Order: sequence, then structure tokens, then C-alpha cells
Amino acid sequence: MKLIIANWKSHKNQQTALEWLTTFKQSKIHNPESSIIIAPPMSLLSIVKNNLPEEVSLAVQDISPFPAGKYTGAVSSQNLEGLDIKYVIVGHSERRRYFHETHNDIANKVAQCIEANITPIVCVDDEYISSQAAAIKQEHLSKCVVAYEELSAIGSGKNMPVEKVQEVFEQIKKYFGETKLIYGGSVDASNVQDYLDICDGVLVGTASLDVNDFVAMI
Ligand code: PGA
Repeated sequence: MKLIIANWKSHKNQQTALEWLTTFKQSKIHNPESSIIIAPPMSLLSIVKNNLPEEVSLAVQDISPFPAGKYTGAVSSQNLEGLDIKYVIVGHSERRRYFHETHNDIANKVAQCIEANITPIVCVDDEYISSQAAAIKQEHLSKCVVAYEELSAIGSGKNMPVEKVQEVFEQIKKYFGETKLIYGGSVDASNVQDYLDICDGVLVGTASLDVNDFVAMI
């Protein structure tokens, strides 16, 4: 099964999310070879959960590195209970860049996910694969999905050549071992197949925002 993950980042509100979901449902899109996953902002989790076709899974874009407790503003794994969250995107480059997340923060988030039986999707770019893997507990590495997302490819329309992605996957395997590998960075309907041919899935930002683009990709 290939993972096709929509990362809405901090886009959409109740109304625009509902419009997206309504059109998505009406499209009756079904691809038996893919597992479709939506990662909305936290505030839209309920509306997405209540309007998703049954076969589509729910993810979040972040999780607290701490358990439930006195951490104002954080969303812990306990807060996610009952929502049937299957995946958490952890350590996205935007979290690292704008929120100053460290390798250790990300390792702690991975630990929170695994304790809660949620699969972490750890984002890396090729500069720090080994240091990020080194921070994560050895026994957690094989439980991660690893997303290769080169900074220059994100949101730029400049997707990485497949050959380069394959090279980086070899590096990732060296440090993470046998895990599911996915690619993210300007994936759209015109190039998605190239990546699905060489890996386990794609993480999609821009092309997941317009429901028609996303349906075309599936
Ligand atoms: P993009 O975003 O598809 O807009 O490049 C991907 C991501 O940041 O996960």
C-alpha cells in the first residue's frame, strides 16, 4: 500500500475544510493500491474526522514532546485519544525552522507517538539524517516512516529528481534501517507516479489544498 498524505499545514477553516471534504466524498475516488491520509490543522480534526470517507485515515501535523500535563498550548497524545489518529508528522522542516525544534524534541515526539501506538512520520533532509537518527532511540527507528523532504523542493514547484531521491533513501536506510520511505516536496499529479514507483508514498502540501488537484493525484 502506498501512502498518499495530504499536509494542509495551517490552511483552511471550518467552512473551507467542509467544502473540500464534501467535494472529496462526491468524487468517490478510490485507489485500492493507496492509503489516503489527511493531516489537517488541530482545530479542524473533528470536522475532518466526521466527514471523511471510511477508508481515509487521519493524521496530525505535530504532537507534544511531553506527556499530558502542565504544558499550556501543547497537544499531547492523550488529547488525541478517541480521534483514531494513525500518523503524526514529526520534525517537518517548517517546525524546525520557525519553531526551533531540535533533534531531541523530535526524538521525544517520536517516543510519545510510539507509546500511544501512533506511527510517526519523521521528516529529514539529507544534511542531518545521521544526527536525527542518532537522537532517536534505537528501538524506535524501525517504527518510523521516514519522509525525505529537501528544503529547496518544498512549496517551490522544484521537485527533486528521482535519482537524487533514491541516493538519499540509501543514506536513510543506513541510519534508520528498514523503514517505510516516502518523498515530499512539490509532488503533484504530474510527477506523483515517478515517486510511487520507487518508494512507499508521498507527503503532499500545496497540491493537497485544492481538492481537485488532490483527487487528480490519487
Ligand atoms: P509541498 O509541501 O507539496 O507544497 O512542496 C510538502 C511538505 O511540506 O510536506
